[in-house]
Amino acid sequence: VIDIRKLYAQGDVFTYDPGFTSTASCSSTITYIDGDKGELLYRGYPIEELADKSHFLECCYLLLYGELPSAAELEDFEARVTRHTMLHEQMQYFFRGFRRDAHPMAIMVGVVGAMSAFYHDSTDIGDPWQREVASIRMIAKMPTIAAWAFKYSIGQPFVYPKNSLDYSGNFLHMCFSVPAEDYVVDPILSRAMDRIMMLHADHEQNASTSTVRLASSSGANPFASIAAGIACLWGPAHGGANQACLEMLQEIGTVDRIPEYIARAKDKDDPFRLMGFGHRVYKNFDPRAKVMKQSADEVLGLLGIDNNETLKVAKELEKIALEDPYFVDKKLYPNVDFYSGIILEAMGFPTSMFTPIFALSRTVGWISQWKEMITDPEQRIGRPRQRYIGAPRREYTEIEDR
Ligand code: ACO
Repeated sequence: VIDIRKLYAQGDVFTYDPGFTSTASCSSTITYIDGDKGELLYRGYPIEELADKSHFLECCYLLLYGELPSAAELEDFEARVTRHTMLHEQMQYFFRGFRRDAHPMAIMVGVVGAMSAFYHDSTDIGDPWQREVASIRMIAKMPTIAAWAFKYSIGQPFVYPKNSLDYSGNFLHMCFSVPAEDYVVDPILSRAMDRIMMLHADHEQNASTSTVRLASSSGANPFASIAAGIACLWGPAHGGANQACLEMLQEIGTVDRIPEYIARAKDKDDPFRLMGFGHRVYKNFDPRAKVMKQSADEVLGLLGIDNNETLKVAKELEKIALEDPYFVDKKLYPNVDFYSGIILEAMGFPTSMFTPIFALSRTVGWISQWKEMITDPEQRIGRPRQRYIGAPRREYTEIEDR
């Protein structure tokens, strides 16, 4: 690793690295990825082990504070999160200002940014107590925001949080209960949802996390910075890939049509890409995809839809692509989004909710990275340079002479 800053100060070097493929923007102790091995660690713990033994709120504690909690610490943390699950009642007016068929991600970008107008006592980033309250508020309220964005988009009344339920169970309740009937949360489905959240909780300096860091490097408040992260996550090359992937699998429809799509993905003149395939860092199987595939089998089995055509297409597509020299040579493997959409659809979510669920899961990662950045003595405002390739200095031409 070369610390380029000293060379730059001497005027010796200027790096050009579009997409930051080989530029570290920070030092971090939170998440480690070994893309060649297909390894992902949260604070040193392998994701597979956490997905098996831990649960989302415990992972939140780990990511936020660096260590697994004791039983008493976890109880206290859960109580603090639970206390903040409600949204300020006035925020409902804000939701209602959106067009009735607005995409839930559009609502989330707006509502999360607007939290800075509702929670003034947690916007001073110089105050550790306010930072802590902002962190807990974001983690606690994001399921409520995502669920209400969903309810609003389908024209159903908002459902208030039920604090007797666990984090993921409560989210399912707020999404699927209606005034006439409380949704009965199946523990297997709530466990599957919890796992999806754990698998998406952090992923070091991905595009949305880097956006949060860059936005808050100017001193912007955490709500505004996280809103920026949500906006970035929305794109189909990032968080929007889970929606795009399921739509692609459904468009393929049957196993016999897979070769046609594989051919399109390999055709340089066709912009089509296999969604849910490839990753900037993983050049081996995304470890999250393995857990997700197992979860997909469990959930569809539980719901009695293990004969699901989309799952069949996904499995066969994976098999064919992994044997195809194009994908092998370019080290393109299924990523976390390849199977998550199948699970979410089986649970009853429309595709428009896939990315909001990613956003609510990633919130703890964004917050942990933000907290780390704020207290990093090396932190400075993010200000990339450019390689200017425009016109050289020239004289202004009067309009009548152009
Ligand atoms: N299908 C077909 N070809 C692909 C795919 C794909 N999914 N992904 C990459 N390639 C090819 C590219 O065409 C390129 O080929 P070339 O070298 O002949 O030009 C080569 O592989 C490298 O691709 P890049 O775009 O340079 O790789 P990059 O690291 O910039 O992009 C990305 C990574 C955005 C994830 C890309 O693989 C992609 O678009 N995948 C599909 C979208 C997706 O699933 N995104 C989710 C990412 S995970 C997440 O956000 C949680």
